[in-house]
Amino acid sequence: MAERRTTKKTSRQNAVLVIGGAGYIGAHVVRALLQAGRRVVVLDNLSEGYRDSLTAIERAERRSVPLVKGDLGDPRTLRKLFAAHRFDAVMHFAALCYVGVSVKEPAAYYRNNAGHTSVLLDEMHRAEIGRLVFSSTCAVYGNPVKVPMPEDHPFAPINPYGHSKRMVEEMLVDLDKANQMRFVALRYFNASGASADAVIGERHDPETHLIPLCLAAAYGHIPELQVFGDDYPTPDGTCVRDYIHVEDLASAHVLALDWLARNDASTFCNVGTGRGQSVKQVIETVERVSKRRVPHRIVPRRVGDPPELVAAAGSIQQKLGWRPRYTSLESIVETADRWYRKMFLKTSVHL
Ligand SMILES: NC(=O)c1ccc[n+]([C@@H]2O[C@H](COP(=O)([O-])OP(=O)(O)OC[C@H]3O[C@@H](n4cnc5c(N)ncnc54)[C@H](O)[C@@H]3O)[C@@H](O)[C@H]2O)c1
Repeated sequence: MAERRTTKKTSRQNAVLVIGGAGYIGAHVVRALLQAGRRVVVLDNLSEGYRDSLTAIERAERRSVPLVKGDLGDPRTLRKLFAAHRFDAVMHFAALCYVGVSVKEPAAYYRNNAGHTSVLLDEMHRAEIGRLVFSSTCAVYGNPVKVPMPEDHPFAPINPYGHSKRMVEEMLVDLDKANQMRFVALRYFNASGASADAVIGERHDPETHLIPLCLAAAYGHIPELQVFGDDYPTPDGTCVRDYIHVEDLASAHVLALDWLARNDASTFCNVGTGRGQSVKQVIETVERVSKRRVPHRIVPRRVGDPPELVAAAGSIQQKLGWRPRYTSLESIVETADRWYRKMFLKTSVHL
């Protein structure tokens, strides 16, 4: 993408603003940034995130993580933040993320995910902060026309959530063309797992993600798991997804920041392992790891669930030098299980 002027307010020692840093993925990235020696400030409205995730990180890392409770769409909050700190870059995780809700409440999704992001981009431009790492999603592609899905796969989102993310991607391309922003937009596949030491993990309310739901069913916190369809054109008839461990996702963000510091350019990268796992394989793995049965029932397909979503994962490996450390589903589920037991069964965790 286009050539650009040098951003004025940057040096390697400045902080990183992590918006949505109290959420599931954001918190893991906050921790990875601290471990990489970066200073971090979090902006989160705590609509979905948890202050205690940040407290747990502070305790584990013996570093402070300033949290500003505020909204991404509030220009006054952003102006104050940008006046109070010097930021090398912004990492932007804040979004409403429930695909089903986005179909019922599209305006709220467009407002929060796209509208509020436009406020951020405008304020970043005014403050001359020219680097952004953006949380995008494989939902920008819609139904796959080929699998694995490369970054130049056609864009045909099938729900307002995916549309709202694609809208932001398009804004970013225009800002790049206008030499106002360089970005790395990471298109995550299925984020999963928890930190290896069970300090932080996955908490959504309501939970819609498969691995935590399997664990909730295994430990008797929900009566059963619903499996939406077993008649898909996949090896065992259930949907296939690409599960990427949240710590591997976090390391991709740290590398993205380094890439932006080295390159006067912008890029889109899938973040996935390139390997698919079916719903049945996830259930079997959770049963093996937790040593409990996962009660489940096959129910009709959900509208808008493609049979298979798997990343073509070569580009991020080539560009950012990123490699996933968690290469088996078992190793991902082990971390999720440890976190689940610590969080919801209050069992002590032996590492
Ligand atoms: N979890 C996944 O598998 C997955 C997959 C693809 C993409 N993503 C994207 O990754 C990002 C993080 O996902 P997550 O699973 O950690 O979600 P999450 O809900 O746990 O975290 C989102 C955080 O953003 C905050 N937030 C939301 N709107 C805000 C606003 N207007 N102002 C300030 N803070 C706000 C929430 O309070 C929350 O802490 C999202 O952008 C999501 O679309 C997630």
